[in-house]
Amino acid sequence: MISAEKIPNNVNLSGNKRLQRALEHWQPKYIQWWRDMGPQGFQDYHQVYVRTAVSVDPEGWAHFEYVKLPEYRWGIFLADPVHDRRIGFGDFYGQPVWQEVPGEFRNQLRRLIVTQGDTEPASVEQQRLLGHRCPSLYDLRNLFQVNVEEGRHLWAMVYLLHSYFGRDGRDEAEELLERQSGNRDKPRILDAFNEPIDNWLDFFMFTMFTDRDGKSQLMSLSESSLDPLSRTTRFMLTEEAHHMFVGETGISRILERTCQLMKEAGYSGDVRKVGGIDLATIQKHLNQWFSLSLDLHGGEVSSNAASYFANGLKGRAKEDSYDEHVAKQSYYNMEFFEQGRTVTKEVLLRNAMNEVLRDWYVGDCAAGVTRWNRILEAHGMSDRLQLPDRKFNRRIGMYAGFHFDPAGVAITKEEWDRRQFDWLPSPKDTEYLLSIMAAPIYEPGKFANYIAPPRRGVNQQPIDFEYVRTEQ
Ligand SMILES: [Fe+2]
Ligand SMILES: [Fe+2]
Repeated sequence: MISAEKIPNNVNLSGNKRLQRALEHWQPKYIQWWRDMGPQGFQDYHQVYVRTAVSVDPEGWAHFEYVKLPEYRWGIFLADPVHDRRIGFGDFYGQPVWQEVPGEFRNQLRRLIVTQGDTEPASVEQQRLLGHRCPSLYDLRNLFQVNVEEGRHLWAMVYLLHSYFGRDGRDEAEELLERQSGNRDKPRILDAFNEPIDNWLDFFMFTMFTDRDGKSQLMSLSESSLDPLSRTTRFMLTEEAHHMFVGETGISRILERTCQLMKEAGYSGDVRKVGGIDLATIQKHLNQWFSLSLDLHGGEVSSNAASYFANGLKGRAKEDSYDEHVAKQSYYNMEFFEQGRTVTKEVLLRNAMNEVLRDWYVGDCAAGVTRWNRILEAHGMSDRLQLPDRKFNRRIGMYAGFHFDPAGVAITKEEWDRRQFDWLPSPKDTEYLLSIMAAPIYEPGKFANYIAPPRRGVNQQPIDFEYVRTEQ
């Protein structure tokens, strides 16, 4: 039986029979999916020290306890309503926001919600084997925290589908559990969510860059005229911040350790000889996940994006910070690639909304890379990490089908084939990473050789706290 105790919520679940019935049907399938496709080998005997959202106030969502993962209480939360909220952009600017889905935008809204929803279980599937290679119990716990929250984000989208989209919504909710990351017949909708994440360098880069795409998408959806979508995504953003923290600090700790090992090995020595991760390998993984995540923002010139904006479905990140919100007569200077060279042309701003969001995303990533470089600087290193040019390694949009080096210089296919593994992880790099992550580290307070301990533990617990315990 569905209950508020099992499913913490602030959507009056106990008073909503229709939603209860829908969830009673969906929830067992979700649990089965979690058992089959969630963290492999951590379903029965492990107790994980995780945070469970039990309400939306600051104490409520920072509630920590030991739980077995399949018993995690996935809840449904909307951020508090904003009094007299008005549509913030597009053709209906200034009108009251919608509490129900307008018939004419039903398909577009459903598509936006399903696309967002599909990424959430996908990432859990991508990460399901990582526990067996964890660098510490602290990191293992962080992985599971991210996983259960992605599961909750799926719940958030399924809540919208069940509540506002009738039968179609119920079908979509089922299909979200049927597609599978990397599955040839039924893949996840977006490419980056079909790439395997089989080592922890990938995991940290994914949570830094791909979860940050989640942040850009959620920020633009939180501007939506559909108020329940806005409120749902606003609450999801609070959880997303933690995922990016895991990614950013994970890489920071690897950099810290790499610098120590470089000093020990002598600056000119190969840090791999002492079991560390060399900066070149770190840069290649950065290149990989940043470029994949740029693709997630969609084509540069997009009539879909224009229509989402015009109809008030998906706004710009921080729409409030713009002077003008209708964007009908404005233009955007876009860099096209034509006949082997780049040319800047004006595009109607509404058609450039994907690129506007990508600009915001690139800026947010760049700030993170600057923070990483401070670690290299503090250790007296002259090397720096950098974001590749946005034309590099693209598979979606107008640069797809051409080849560019990380500086954005056009190169031939032959040169790309010859040099791609100078810029992207090679099978050898992956093999090396898997070799230093061959065995998990389950001893409290111990860390793998390639990563430094964190500055502090979770929820003011010590670093050597038993973040995951085994109970037979
Ligand atoms: Fe998420
Ligand atoms: Fe996330």
